[in-house]
Amino acid sequence: MATRRRTLLKVIVLGDSGVGKTSLMNQYVHKKFSMQYKATIGADFVTKELQIGEKLVTLQIWDTAGQERFQSLGAAFYRGADCCALVYDVNVLRSFDNLETWHEEFLKQAWNIGMCPSDPKTFPFIVLGNKIDVDGGSSRVVSDKKAADWCASNGNIPYFETSAKDDFNVDEAFLTIAKTALANE
Ligand code: GTP
Ligand code: MG
Repeated sequence: MATRRRTLLKVIVLGDSGVGKTSLMNQYVHKKFSMQYKATIGADFVTKELQIGEKLVTLQIWDTAGQERFQSLGAAFYRGADCCALVYDVNVLRSFDNLETWHEEFLKQAWNIGMCPSDPKTFPFIVLGNKIDVDGGSSRVVSDKKAADWCASNGNIPYFETSAKDDFNVDEAFLTIAKTALANE
């Protein structure tokens, strides 16, 4: 009989304030969504168990405040990260442009605490373009091609378009996050 081993995977979710990081996590873990905005303070995590092939995996998902400056999060936050999810809002150009900054800052912080791979392009990231439901898609300003191009030129980062509100692609995105993290573990 195959031995059952539980694997803990740490995932860090980053992105501008208001893009829907907390909402995506709430939808994924609690199947709940609220239109009310409550800014995240500091950083906290939720966990979800899932089965990937033979492996029982505990996904530990760290939510952060988009308003917070990076440095204040501290080394403990990044230590042991297996995957980093970068979230933007397809209706807000600035949140897409800032992916570059979040990506670089994560790598810089990871490097500072000595967990960085020699080639930054090999650290597993995933990009989520959220809120595709807004106005039936008519208010989006970042095309899927533009986002996919950015992902392709930054080490072939997997890309998902999601709606935390409609629960669209949320399970799929987090499953890919888990698989990506597992491959890095
Ligand atoms: P910070 O904690 O400040 O970093 O923000 P956040 O990224 O956690 O955003 P949050 O999940 O709090 O969502 C911000 C607002 O956007 C809330 O009012 C949510 O209801 C709304 N929202 C989040 N996801 C979606 C979505 O997929 N569609 C729509 N229409 N609204 C969304
Ligand atoms: Mg939040």
